[in-house]
Amino acid sequence: MKGVVFVELLSMAESAFGEDVVDNVLDKADLENGGAYTTVGNYPCEELVKIVQAFSDHSGLSPEVLQRKFGHWMMEFFAQHYGGFFEGKEGSLEMLEAVDGEIHVEVRKLYPDAELPRFDARRVNDTELELLYSSPRPLVEFCHGLIEACVDRFGESGSIDIDPTVKPGNKNSTMFNIKLNEQ
Ligand code: HEM
Repeated sequence: MKGVVFVELLSMAESAFGEDVVDNVLDKADLENGGAYTTVGNYPCEELVKIVQAFSDHSGLSPEVLQRKFGHWMMEFFAQHYGGFFEGKEGSLEMLEAVDGEIHVEVRKLYPDAELPRFDARRVNDTELELLYSSPRPLVEFCHGLIEACVDRFGESGSIDIDPTVKPGNKNSTMFNIKLNEQ
């Protein structure tokens, strides 16, 4: 995963728990490079999972809750640093539909080594989107948080549910049902 993801995860942890706690937690976690990451580096996703687990042990919050919070944090980061991707989008569903064919395509041009998920979107109607998320990485709740934060960003509200009845052939896929409230 891109170093920027690690740097932002630690930045969120610092703002939540303070610098000293972060140093302690990282010292105790068994990390390959001692928890030092640069935005231009590339690190194994397992390291990210270990860091999340370490903060979960420290805080008592589940890894899933922490991943989801991190999704919100990352969406804020994307909005601040890559605002262009949000321009011209009428709402969150349009934004989510553009991730696979537009946004991540640009990300891949900038960083050919990026490890990106795949999204298959099906627009049910004006207020409803089915989004099939596929990734070999265990980041479903991170994705959930990004989707929630995307809906918030566009000043919309609604429900985002994982459909447990959808069992695609590929076990690395998760179906998100996004239903916006009528505005
Ligand atoms: C609602 C919109 C978005 C969603 C749902 C989304 C989803 C995700 C997810 C779930 C990942 C983790 C990798 C995986 O699951 O396999 C990821 C990675 C990433 N995304 Fe997006 N994304 C969104 C928008 C953006 C935007 C606006 C940018 C702007 C630059 C961006 C850039 C990246 C980058 C740089 C990575 C890391 C790749 C790596 O570590 O190698 N994404 N995205």
